[in-house]
Amino acid sequence: MKKEKRLITSALTYVNNIPHVGHIVGCHLPADIFARFCRSYGYDTTYVGGSDMHGTPSLMTAQELGLPVEVLTEELHKIHKKIYEKLGISYDIYSNTHTKTHEEITDNFFKTLYENGYINEGETEMYYCEKDKMFLPDRYVVGTCPHCGFTGASGDQCEKCDSLLSPTDLVDARCKICGEKAKLKKSKHIFLILSKGTDKLSKWVEEKKDIFRPHVYAEAKKWIQEGLKDRCISRDIKWGFPVPLEGYKDKVFYVWFDAPIGYISITKELSEQKYKDLWCDKTAKIYNFVGKDNIQFHTVFFPTMLLENGKYNLPYNVVGLNFLNYEGQKFSKSKKIGVFCNALLNDDDKIDIDTLRAYLTTIIPENRDTDYKWEDYKNNTNSELVGKFGNLFNRSLNMLKSYFNSVNDFDPESEYEKNALDLEIIDAIKTMPQKIADAFDKAELRDAYKLIMNYAVIGNGYVEKSAPWALMKAEKQEEAKKVLCLALNLCASLCICASPIIPNKTQKLWAEQLGLGGDVTSPNMWEKASEYNIKKGHKIGTITPIFERIDDEKLANFKEIMSQPFDIKDFFSTKKVNVTKKLKNKSHF
Ligand code: MF3
Ligand code: ZN
Repeated sequence: MKKEKRLITSALTYVNNIPHVGHIVGCHLPADIFARFCRSYGYDTTYVGGSDMHGTPSLMTAQELGLPVEVLTEELHKIHKKIYEKLGISYDIYSNTHTKTHEEITDNFFKTLYENGYINEGETEMYYCEKDKMFLPDRYVVGTCPHCGFTGASGDQCEKCDSLLSPTDLVDARCKICGEKAKLKKSKHIFLILSKGTDKLSKWVEEKKDIFRPHVYAEAKKWIQEGLKDRCISRDIKWGFPVPLEGYKDKVFYVWFDAPIGYISITKELSEQKYKDLWCDKTAKIYNFVGKDNIQFHTVFFPTMLLENGKYNLPYNVVGLNFLNYEGQKFSKSKKIGVFCNALLNDDDKIDIDTLRAYLTTIIPENRDTDYKWEDYKNNTNSELVGKFGNLFNRSLNMLKSYFNSVNDFDPESEYEKNALDLEIIDAIKTMPQKIADAFDKAELRDAYKLIMNYAVIGNGYVEKSAPWALMKAEKQEEAKKVLCLALNLCASLCICASPIIPNKTQKLWAEQLGLGGDVTSPNMWEKASEYNIKKGHKIGTITPIFERIDDEKLANFKEIMSQPFDIKDFFSTKKVNVTKKLKNKSHF
């Protein structure tokens, strides 16, 4: 076991709706594949995630639905958890940011910053609604756009002319909830002095020049160059953790202040030991996987918080992803454009998870935005998974069954005469797993997938050119045994290498079909990837085709199921009675 400790995190998702495929590809899936690889390779791996419960969007959604925000977020948290489980996202813990542990750690984190002199007090002016008795978040101020005259512009953006706005730009600002005129009102707030940490931050970002992807490094640099301004970390809303400072107790922490601290508290929830090992021991490596819009928070805001606090490790790498589009357009719930995850909530197993994971891997937006295309999904399934990967297993296993009664009678470790083709496949088994590991280790997951498919192609080429069927005809049984033995050993190796991406299928292939038993996803398996796992005398198991071809009809069906947007109103209106009852027995947590 390589002892390096690695903590892998996925950005904590807001729970004001359910995730769509863009969230999966832009964070959870790449982090999962990386975590699965790390376990397999022998790193001491911990993968944590959770729901980001606080923030205005959840509060506002709850208000629109007429539900207590605790109920909304808790119910959606459960749905998120279930969807990730269904997709095989292998969290060691999936928790959330509305827990006692999290509140304690957040409070302590803040107190340290306060005592170290990194917190300022100040005042801001914001729109307030007298009728609703609340300060209005930007999107809850509506009015006339100063640029195009559209009367329904909101305080952050005009939908008509797309200009970015701030609420005070609006002519005739009103409250979105009740329509009353909104008034500017002063309020006291606390600010994190980001500028004091700039030198340390700059130095840290420079150290990451060759570790971050270029677009991640560039974004961090850009923010630093623009100069870090103090950031308001309190909010006048009634959802979140109260600020533990005299004069501010009726305010809560800004969601982006407490959320990233969630990585720490969720690790602690998992175990006290892991918390110490991963956050306080400098040898641990932390990998944050985050979507495009989260990059600045993970390369500038949170690292500065950590540097100013001084107690915890900073990330080793921030793996920032880009956006996923859908057939050339932006995902849009309202326009019903996209691939949604609600179908995963049904327990009918209509969706083949690994086929989906494999396709999604090909479109992980590692270096640029990518596009989900149903046609590509079909092609990847038919030509890669069925045509290359599945075919290799199918033909090799079937030949061993029909020619040799399912038993491998060749000792791959014995001394035997090797022809050029043999030497090639032996070399592939010795070297390809490490090449694939190198790609995984750099979180170049698309490259890893390509290499895996190349590995399958090498296996197919070997079988094709060695032609065991012809050898059988020519009564060269021993030769045929050798070919199938080497091919099946490549298959076993391929199972280990592909397991981070298609864990369910490889497990089936490994345990049942190759007949090797046990769990192909267990820690440290990678050591076996360059060994001969199919030894002399080994009997393979039952063979069934592992991937199914997709025709146009099946594709249309699948598309139909996956394109149904989730109607949150509908969902909660049928649940409402249940959930409100439940709340009566609830305490603060
Ligand atoms: N909730 C944020 C989002 O979905 C991400 C928070 S990441 C964390 O965009 F670092 F704050 F946890
Ligand atoms: Zn109002």
